Amino acid sequence: MKEIKVIMVGLGNVGQGFLKILETDHASLMQNQGLDIKVVGVSDLRYGNYSEPNGFQVTSLLKALENGNLEGMGKKDERSSTENWIKSCDAQFLLEASFTNFTNAEPAIQYMRAALSSGKHVVTSNKGPIALFYSELATMAKQGGLQIGVEGTVMSGTPSMALGINTLKAAGITSIQGILNGTTNFILTRMEQGNSYQNALAEAQKLGYAEADPTGDVEGYDAAGKVVILGNLVMDRPITFADVERKGISGVTLQDVELAKAEGKRWKLIGTLSIDNGIVSASVKPTLLPTEDPLANVGGATNAITFTTQHMGKVTLIGAGAGRVETGFALLSDILAISKTNEPSNWRKQ
Ligand code: HSE
Repeated sequence: MKEIKVIMVGLGNVGQGFLKILETDHASLMQNQGLDIKVVGVSDLRYGNYSEPNGFQVTSLLKALENGNLEGMGKKDERSSTENWIKSCDAQFLLEASFTNFTNAEPAIQYMRAALSSGKHVVTSNKGPIALFYSELATMAKQGGLQIGVEGTVMSGTPSMALGINTLKAAGITSIQGILNGTTNFILTRMEQGNSYQNALAEAQKLGYAEADPTGDVEGYDAAGKVVILGNLVMDRPITFADVERKGISGVTLQDVELAKAEGKRWKLIGTLSIDNGIVSASVKPTLLPTEDPLANVGGATNAITFTTQHMGKVTLIGAGAGRVETGFALLSDILAISKTNEPSNWRKQ
């Protein structure tokens, strides 16, 4: 049995989704994977930093989070900063699921640097630091013989990154096209059913799909961040946000949606990356698709990604794009993948 000690920063939707999975699956993870995953530290801006070197009792932790009060859970650490707390914890992994920030990736990027500089693998669903600073983080990881798990940054726990990086890259990816944001796809689907944009957005927030600030979703920044991540990690092209032509769905009206429906079409927010003569073009924009297009039939918070490759033609993966447990599962799948590789740097291109 391998003991895996993790600390968590960010106890919102994703963090709690991971804890819920651990609560139900801990025994089977021990039995089937040979891993005893222990949460030995938790941190959130709302509560502060708490440590429990023997591992928190997960059900009690979830209950405390439900009640919004972690007092009495392990030891509250009064250190000057979360970065110092991260460095001081005895753990192999940092699970980073704090809010995303596409402007400068703060504060998550500092947490990741603190983890990598103190010998911890980083597993994250946080798109800002990966879209903006992946190459720096990968260099730090490589120097420390560590790895960075990024599955949850694109399509939640649906294994789009693992499929792209570990398998299809070798098939020669020439373009990627996808529905990469759950919130906007959910809103467009609900609008087609006659609901208003505002009600549909409120529903997406309630279901835990939307970001803390949903502007990032509806204006296409979230999908653009995923396009940047796919461009860098799957297509090995150093693109940035500035390279992505971006338009969100806030301008799409109920009338537009109905008009499209009457013509046998659907609006979808589509992210695209393609290489032509060595030049990459990248975009995120509302696109009118005929209903026979496979992407047109992907509804709700479900996402889809089509990799066009030289050796395999088109390969499409459809699955959850957002959600508490779905993104929590991404963290678990990265822990499993990293735990199974003993050689540093052979799972992700570093
Ligand atoms: N807000 C994001 C979405 C969460 O709706 O897709 C998953 O990245």
